Amino acid sequence: MENKTVAVVGLGYIGLPTAAVLASHGFQVIGVDTNPDVVAAVNAGQVPFVEPDLDVAVAGAVSRSWLSAQAEMPRADIFVVAVPTPFRAGRQPDLSFVEAAARAIAPVLTGAELVILESTSPPGTTQRLARAIGDLRQDLEMALDDEHGPSAVHFAHCPERVLPGRIMTEMIENDRIVGGLSAASTQMASAMYRTFCKGEVLTTTAETAETAKLVENAYRDVNIALANEISNVADVLDIDVWEVIELANRHPRVNILRPGPGVGGHCIAVDPWFLISAAPDETPLMRQARNTNDAKPTQVVANIEAAVRESGALSVTLLGLSYKADIDDLRESPSVQIARDVALAFPDVQVNVVEPHISLLPTGLDQLENVRLAGWTAAGAEQGVLAVLVDHSVFKGLIREEMGAAEVVDVCGLWSRPAVVAPLVLDVI
Ligand SMILES: NC(=O)c1ccc[n+]([C@@H]2O[C@H](COP(=O)([O-])OP(=O)(O)OC[C@H]3O[C@@H](n4cnc5c(N)ncnc54)[C@H](O)[C@@H]3O)[C@@H](O)[C@H]2O)c1
Repeated sequence: MENKTVAVVGLGYIGLPTAAVLASHGFQVIGVDTNPDVVAAVNAGQVPFVEPDLDVAVAGAVSRSWLSAQAEMPRADIFVVAVPTPFRAGRQPDLSFVEAAARAIAPVLTGAELVILESTSPPGTTQRLARAIGDLRQDLEMALDDEHGPSAVHFAHCPERVLPGRIMTEMIENDRIVGGLSAASTQMASAMYRTFCKGEVLTTTAETAETAKLVENAYRDVNIALANEISNVADVLDIDVWEVIELANRHPRVNILRPGPGVGGHCIAVDPWFLISAAPDETPLMRQARNTNDAKPTQVVANIEAAVRESGALSVTLLGLSYKADIDDLRESPSVQIARDVALAFPDVQVNVVEPHISLLPTGLDQLENVRLAGWTAAGAEQGVLAVLVDHSVFKGLIREEMGAAEVVDVCGLWSRPAVVAPLVLDVI
């Protein structure tokens, strides 16, 4: 495998770490991205987003000439496609980025290459990618099954399941699923991942690999929806949801997740729809989970609005804007929606957004006159309403009583109290 050239197509949260890891494991890596700013940043040894330890890996690989970036598709032995797979109107999968990657790869193929689709995709996408390239290159054979010649182009799906904030560790340590369209494709792709993956490399078909990734995220979504629903029940009953969940989780076979402001990001909020659209009549639970989690920001806004009305507060301080703790990723973030809805509901109330991982407010908030980005060290709530939307590590040292808030809406349990353990009482005989 060493000395092979790999083109990593799409240098985002997944593609760039993959490129850096491959470059440090004996591959000559060329990153391809349609965004010229990304290409320029990578060639300067820089990372255009926040991810621990990635900057050192990229700077090291670029300075040793193991990694470079460009806009044009190069010839390569292996192509790793990590482009976005969002949904379009009607929550149908948008495969236009994968199709664009296919159109760019097709002309540079000469035969016997391996094309790996890492983008999270609806079942059957790897097969469609291979057919799309086959339509464009009828002079070459595509290995669509085990019946193929020695110079056929191979295809495999290898989904990514890293946790943002721990990508460089999990990319190496997690188990990987590799599913080829043929036995040879599976074997070729597995060999590439085995060069750096310390976890197990599990092999299957492409369609099973695609489905397994979607099932993982549907599992997370359904369980988060349960936690969010429990928090709504606790609100109605006026009991502490964190205490309820902590006590219930003392059952040896119960593990309820933590409620939050909703579900954001590029994955859990999107991927279940790929399964739902593949089997609409078989997925009522997944659909309900999506709707429950999508409704949670509105619930949080209602709680903040009630706190503002009750206290007559003139300011609302929101801790956290990213879609999860300790990252800068605002994609599909429910906290952005919450900030916007609160600001629009109370135009005369000052909304202070405390998000230490960004330096500018995102589109949608930057135009609102009563919203400003505030420093986290000075996150005093000035007798206003304080809402904790994201439990960033830097917030963990904040002491609720010292924040000066008139009302607190703690959506993610930053200040939840531990359940009280009964003191040991010795029976007096
Ligand atoms: N971010 C995650 O935590 C995560 C985890 C698992 C799986 N995934 C999946 O990985 C895929 C990529 O996600 P991401 O978060 O890295 O996306 P991203 O938006 O961070 O990066 C995608 C990159 O692809 C580039 N691009 C778009 N079209 C292109 C094309 N035709 N040719 C070359 N470059 C192109 C964009 O400019 C961008 O830099 C998605 O399918 C996503 O669902 C993401």
